[in-house]
Amino acid sequence: VSQDQRVAVALGARSYDIVVGAGLLKRAGAELAPVLRRSDAIIVTDANLASTPHLGGLERSLEAAGIASRCVVLPSGEATKSMTQLGELLDRLLDLGVDRSTTIVAFGGGVIGDLAGFAAAILLRGLDCVQVPTTLLAQVDSAIGGKTGINTRHGKNLIGAFHQPRLVLADTAVLASLSPRELRAGYAEVVKYALIDRPDFFAWLEAHGHNVLAGDAAAQQHAVLTSCRAKAAVVAADEREGGVRALLNLGHTFGHALEAACGYGDELLHGEAVALGMVLAFDLSVRLGLCPAADAERVRAHLAAVGLPTKLGGIKAGGPAPDTLFAAMGHDKKAQEGRPRFVLTRGIGQAFAGAEVVPAELEALLEAAA
Ligand SMILES: NC(=O)c1ccc[n+]([C@@H]2O[C@H](COP(=O)([O-])OP(=O)(O)OC[C@H]3O[C@@H](n4cnc5c(N)ncnc54)[C@H](O)[C@@H]3O)[C@@H](O)[C@H]2O)c1
Ligand SMILES: [Zn+2]
Repeated sequence: VSQDQRVAVALGARSYDIVVGAGLLKRAGAELAPVLRRSDAIIVTDANLASTPHLGGLERSLEAAGIASRCVVLPSGEATKSMTQLGELLDRLLDLGVDRSTTIVAFGGGVIGDLAGFAAAILLRGLDCVQVPTTLLAQVDSAIGGKTGINTRHGKNLIGAFHQPRLVLADTAVLASLSPRELRAGYAEVVKYALIDRPDFFAWLEAHGHNVLAGDAAAQQHAVLTSCRAKAAVVAADEREGGVRALLNLGHTFGHALEAACGYGDELLHGEAVALGMVLAFDLSVRLGLCPAADAERVRAHLAAVGLPTKLGGIKAGGPAPDTLFAAMGHDKKAQEGRPRFVLTRGIGQAFAGAEVVPAELEALLEAAA
């Protein structure tokens, strides 16, 4: 049986802990109590989570620690990260009589974490928030680092705020009810940390990644913990993305373009787009003479072995056309003056940010990948 483990996110007065453990939800009340301003919390969750036993488990654990909790349940899915649902949530929180000392507990995947975190950032000019992520993606990525926000018809995450949580509780046991496809998509972000600067972790994933996806408790704990350490280090070094935090965009310039072209739906999940994007980033690095071809091949082989997409041809009638992708990359939030910025690599564990790539190289790459 694995023990809970803690990772500190060092941000001065805004520092907080990430706790990782299987069955941690049972101890959520005891973990939360010290960070609450008073023994009162409002859980924000989605309909899927509300239909699992996990929500009751969290509520009972808070109750046992003497914490009165109430719950707001929102619809599941990306469409919930909207201005309409934000307005609804804010009013429901005010209906429940929140005051400045109320803590919001975001209990769900990245959708709930981003929306409830943003509501906490702006309601009464800022309430405390605790993130209790329930998807692999949220546990290793979205719940950590304080980026919160919603989508508009102009694009994803265009309205938001930095609002660091007071605590992050990642119970790997709740991943058991997640669909295999969602689990795999989150796994792509785990691979991302390995590819950025942890070559030994990549070798570990090659050997044990299938155990992570098969629900092995020790393997999940190791993968989540290592990923949390990686994200915490980057966030502590660069809270507002002026520098190294950009490395976390490995695979994301291509990935975001693919998601935009596929309509942010069931066709291609974010993590699947990131898997494809990482393959393209390695291929591009090989074309530019930066990275050994053998490293790109290892990356492709591992992602394919766990069932993530690695070929553009695998999506929507051969994938979006190269010029569509190219245009989407120019509109990326992180593009500068319409020119996309890439995270490229000198090999597994040797990513670097800020590269500008001439259009002809990109076109050639996308043609070759089609
Ligand atoms: N803030 C950040 O830094 C950051 C980083 C990456 C992604 N994101 C955002 O995260 C969102 C995606 O998050 P996601 O992939 O977690 O999606 P999600 O929140 O939509 O969750 C995926 C699905 O799984 C269900 N679910 C969640 N936990 C479950 C569980 N334990 N058992 C059964 N079902 C469960 C949800 O109801 C949903 O249907 C996107 O909006 C993205 O923009 C934010
Ligand atoms: Zn991502």
